[in-house]
Amino acid sequence: MSISSPSASQQEEFQQRFSALRQRHDAYMQTVLSVQAHATRLQQAMQYSALLGGKRVRPFLVYATGELFDVPVESLDAPAAAVECIHAYSLIHDDLPAMDDDTLRRGQPTCHVQFDEATAILAGDALQSFAFSLLAQPIPHISPAQQLRMVHVLAHSAGLHGMCGGQMLDIAATGRSIQTAELEQVHQLKTGALLRASVQLGALAANDVSEQVRSALDEFADAIGLAFQVQDDILDVTGDTQTLGKTQGSDQALHKSTYPALLGLAGSQALLRQLHEKALHALALIPYNTALLESFTEYLVKRDR
Ligand code: IPE
Ligand code: IPE
Ligand code: MG
Ligand code: MG
Ligand code: MG
Repeated sequence: MSISSPSASQQEEFQQRFSALRQRHDAYMQTVLSVQAHATRLQQAMQYSALLGGKRVRPFLVYATGELFDVPVESLDAPAAAVECIHAYSLIHDDLPAMDDDTLRRGQPTCHVQFDEATAILAGDALQSFAFSLLAQPIPHISPAQQLRMVHVLAHSAGLHGMCGGQMLDIAATGRSIQTAELEQVHQLKTGALLRASVQLGALAANDVSEQVRSALDEFADAIGLAFQVQDDILDVTGDTQTLGKTQGSDQALHKSTYPALLGLAGSQALLRQLHEKALHALALIPYNTALLESFTEYLVKRDR
């Protein structure tokens, strides 16, 4: 199967929807993280890291997946914000001196540089707890049983068998040469797990999605989850600091195990194309209107930041 690009009008529709959903999500985040004049230092650090910038790809995935099944948009605000809070926490901790020791994030000083290490650690911790309190509060048209499933999906994807487990493997793979199977596992866990959870949260909000469709969605999410980190690795080599909003070359400086280090740039690009095809193939198995997710996949593999 070869990849046919979405039409210009489909692309434009996607850009509009992505931007509209980002605005909706940003407004919701501002409200729930209650931006007030007299925020405490901890609140300021949480707001700094969760509100200023970010492409918001995980919230988009929650909304776009829910939309496939006609889930009312107000049912998706809390799950979308919850996954973004987990992501924001992960970035704060990922940038700490004990982890990647980065000083630039989203075009601004990283949280521990802007505040201090202790505040950054606590802001990450508090954003994580906050994610689960968002999911545990009443959500319009969502039953307590669905909420419980959402809590479980998010907890599983963020923890030992997901993002944290992957971050630990990433550290263990640093400064060592590893095989593709191991690198794929690192990337699927540290990054793919949360993207998969975003898709699952959108589907869980629908409540009546068949097992077959759920499994095609998982296949789609696995492909874009890995593709997302492959492109992140590529951009660390080919991007520029200004556009990326984070320091280019950080992976190489830290001797990280990445796809360009393992397969070279051309090999990484080829893998990206394969994953793009795989994602589109999975979407083709879903008997709903997946045009928005198709365009999103194209955006993910072509993004420059
Ligand atoms: C960066 O994620 C970290 C990875 C998991 C690759 P994003 O590229 O989604 O970062 P923001 O939220 O847009 O800043
Ligand atoms: C991050 O991977 C994965 C996380 C769980 C945060 P990276 O370390 O490659 O992310 P960036 O490049 O710093 O955004
Ligand atoms: Mg890292
Ligand atoms: Mg990093
Ligand atoms: Mg990176």
